[in-house]
This record gives sequence, structure tokens and C-alpha cells, in this order.
Amino acid sequence: MSNRRDFMGIALGGFTALVGGIPALYAMKRTWDPLPSVKAAGFTNVDVSGAVENQLVVEKWRGKPIFVLKKSKDMKADDRDVVVGSDRFHVSIGLCTHLGCIPAYVSDEHKFKCACHGGEFDASGHETFGPPPSPLEVPPFKVDGTTIVLGEEGAEFKKMKEAGLTV
Ligand code: FES
Repeated sequence: MSNRRDFMGIALGGFTALVGGIPALYAMKRTWDPLPSVKAAGFTNVDVSGAVENQLVVEKWRGKPIFVLKKSKDMKADDRDVVVGSDRFHVSIGLCTHLGCIPAYVSDEHKFKCACHGGEFDASGHETFGPPPSPLEVPPFKVDGTTIVLGEEGAEFKKMKEAGLTV
């Protein structure tokens, strides 16, 4: 009789532990999963349907400023341009490639000018004057309709990267 009672006690104890363990496992999984805000933090969507030619928009992606400039017809087309429909955009990380200052866009000259040491970049992000050693860097992007998704490597970005044009 006592053996049967022992068996029932062990079985019941095991069942209770199993049932009790499921919420604990679920809680552990939730703890280890990244928060939704962390998952979303890697991407920034920029809807360029309302963009105005030659007017710089500065977005933020992973803590960095991102330049988005809709090119006007008189601006030279470039292999680094991001094409959205029939429009061309310059998209770059807005940090000078010399020592990391944020250049300002001078719209009537179609130039980015860095106040730190006088570096200049054209409207395609190519260094044209002063100490910057390389063009403004193109961040990973994907074109989705009229939206530029920053942080995702789309076909257009991969092509640029393979050609060595992103840096
Ligand atoms: S940081 Fe821009 S020119 Fe030096």
C-alpha cells in the first residue's frame, strides 16, 4: 500500500514539476528574445514620395545621420545613385570620412562642406576638396516601392558593394 502511495506521490510530483516548468521555460525564452524595439531598431524606413529636389533630408539609422538628397535634373547622375521610380537620390552616412564630423549641405553649390577641416563632397558624395580620403559611405539599403529601407541589403546595394562603390 505504501509503495503505491509512494509511486502516486512521485508521479504527482513529477507532473507538478512539469506543469510548473512550462511557464518557467516560456519566461526564460521571453527573457532571451530581443525586445521588439531592439529588433526594429536595425531598420529605418524613409518614404521618399514627398521628397523635394535639392533639399537634404537627414534621417537617423543606428545612431548615425543619414543623408537623403533627391537629385535635380541638372545634377550629374552617378553609379552610387539610389533610383526610386524615375527619381535619383544620393543616400549616404552623413559623417565626413576624414575625422567623422557631420558635413552641411550647401544647396546652391550642390556640395557637402565639412566645417572641421574644410573637406568637400559633391552631390554624389565624392570627395572633391581637402583632407577626406574617400567618398561618403553608402549605408545598406533596399528600395521597396517609394520607401528606402535603411539597414537591409537589397539587390541595388549588393550590386554597388560588389563594384566597390559603397565606400
Ligand atoms: S572631419 Fe571633415 S574635413 Fe576633417
